[in-house]
Amino acid sequence: MSWIITIDGPTASGKGTVAHWVADKLGFHVLDSGALYRLTALAALEEGVAADDVPSLTDLAANLQVQFADYRVWLNGVEVSDAIRAEQVGNLASAIAVHAPLRAALVARQRAFAQPPGLVADGRDMGTVIFPEADLKVFLTASVEERARRRYNQLINKGISANVDALLLDLQQRDERDRTRAVAPLVPAPGAVLLDTSAMSAEDAAEFILAQFAQ
Ligand code: CDP
Repeated sequence: MSWIITIDGPTASGKGTVAHWVADKLGFHVLDSGALYRLTALAALEEGVAADDVPSLTDLAANLQVQFADYRVWLNGVEVSDAIRAEQVGNLASAIAVHAPLRAALVARQRAFAQPPGLVADGRDMGTVIFPEADLKVFLTASVEERARRRYNQLINKGISANVDALLLDLQQRDERDRTRAVAPLVPAPGAVLLDTSAMSAEDAAEFILAQFAQ
C-alpha cells in the first residue's frame, strides 16, 4: 500500500518547503514536479532549443538523465540544484510547460515516484492529472504580495540581488499563464483542501496537512 498526498498551488506559495516537511514527518518520498520542468528548461538553454520547438523539447523531456537525492538534483551527472532555481530557468519552465506533448512525456516519470510507504507530490497538476486518486489533495495559496516577499527573501539569502516590484510582476505573469493555459491549468483538484498560508508559517501549514491526513 502506497499513500499519496498532492500539494498544488501557484509559484512561491511554499509548496516545496511544506511538501518536504510533511514527507519528512511521514517518512514518505517527495516529488518536486516543477524541478522536471525546470530541468527540461535548463537542458533546452544548454542545447539551444527554442521555447516553441515542441518536438525537440518533448524529446529532451523524455530523455532527461536525472537523479534526485537529499534536496539536490543532477542533470547528465552534473549537479544543477542551484542552476535550475535561476529566475531565467523558472520563466522558461513556465513558458514550455504549456506544451501538451512535453507534459505527456513527463507523466510516467512522475508516477514512478509513487513508492511505498508513500509520496508527497508538489506541483500544479498533481491532484488533477498525475495522481487524481490521491488520498489527500491540498491546494496551497498565499497572496501575491506575500509570495513575492518570500521569493525576494529566498533570493537575498542566496546572495542574489532582487527587486520586489519586478518579482511581483513576474509572479503575476507566471500565475496568469499557469491558470489560463489549455493543458493542465492550475486549478484546485476536485475534493482538494484549500489552504491560504499568507499568515501561516511553513511549519504550521505542514502540521495542518498532517492533521488532515491523519483524519
Ligand atoms: O518555484 P515555482 O513555484 O516558481 O516553480 P516550480 O514549481 O519549480 O515550477 C516551474 C514551472 O513549471 C511553473 O511555473 C509551472 O509553469 C511549471 N509546472 C507545471 O506546469 N506543472 C507542474 N506540475 C509543476 C510545474
